Amino acid sequence: MNKIDDSAHRYVHGYSEREIERLVDQATTLTDLLHSDTRYPAGVSVLEAGCGVGAQTVTLVENSPEAHFTCVDISNRSLQRAKARVEATRHRNATFQQGDIFNLPFPDNHFDHAFVCFVLEHLEKPVKALCRLKSKLRPGGTITVIEGDHGSTYFYPGSTEAWQTIQCLIDLQARIGGNALIGRQLFPLLTKAGYRTPSVSPRMVYVDASRPDYVDGFTKNTFIAMVEAVGGDAIKAGLINASTWDKGIKGLKRTTEGDGTFCYTFFKGTGTN
Ligand SMILES: C[S@@+](CC[C@H](N)C(=O)[O-])C[C@H]1O[C@@H](n2cnc3c(N)ncnc32)[C@H](O)[C@@H]1O
Repeated sequence: MNKIDDSAHRYVHGYSEREIERLVDQATTLTDLLHSDTRYPAGVSVLEAGCGVGAQTVTLVENSPEAHFTCVDISNRSLQRAKARVEATRHRNATFQQGDIFNLPFPDNHFDHAFVCFVLEHLEKPVKALCRLKSKLRPGGTITVIEGDHGSTYFYPGSTEAWQTIQCLIDLQARIGGNALIGRQLFPLLTKAGYRTPSVSPRMVYVDASRPDYVDGFTKNTFIAMVEAVGGDAIKAGLINASTWDKGIKGLKRTTEGDGTFCYTFFKGTGTN
């Protein structure tokens, strides 16, 4: 039974078909950058918290085929998508369960590891979430957290209006309790939550015309798609007017032309219980 109604959950990107495609494009393009150093040994149990539609899950099960993944999301609809996505692979080492990070349906000290990607940025209380996850880890278990940071964006040619559109997304996310600049805070957040030996590494995506796969998969289909999707809300909220918004989106798209460049930094953190 779906006890948690998706509509009750505030999530700046929403749960539309376009957003599902965007999460998958994002994960596919960034697989090496974000997953190259994450491998779990045979027999260990890993909690993937906030698995969404399974965009990261397919990589986790592929890279660590002998670990067992328990994948949780507050959205039952997303969870069903995630399940179908993994069932379409040859891997059978993941199970799916609806749940809230703040009230996880597992005993304490239950998992060897936890993996959380692009979730803390949407939570009003990220330290509390990290503490809840920590309580589910056995002593010596680890957490891996990956987050973006929209303030890390820069591009050529420059455009004031383009930057204003990004600021709208940052502001809208903040209004519903999220933090689109959370990547830079991973180290203090892990420390505050009590993890030992926290360690954070920046992962920069640099895009120019020599990498057309990144131009499409990251700049267009991940980043610009994410910003474009909040246009209506940003204008309605009075954060920007329609003509500045259009100029800004044009400015972002201009960076995908032959002489354009685009940079964004993700942050990957680990800590030990
Ligand atoms: C941006 S998506 C990321 C999904 C996936 N980790 C990925 O990288 O593609 C954020 C996900 O976190 C989930 N989420 C948000 N708050 C949650 C909570 N309190 N407990 C469990 N899941 C939550 C949302 O439903 C959404 O599926």
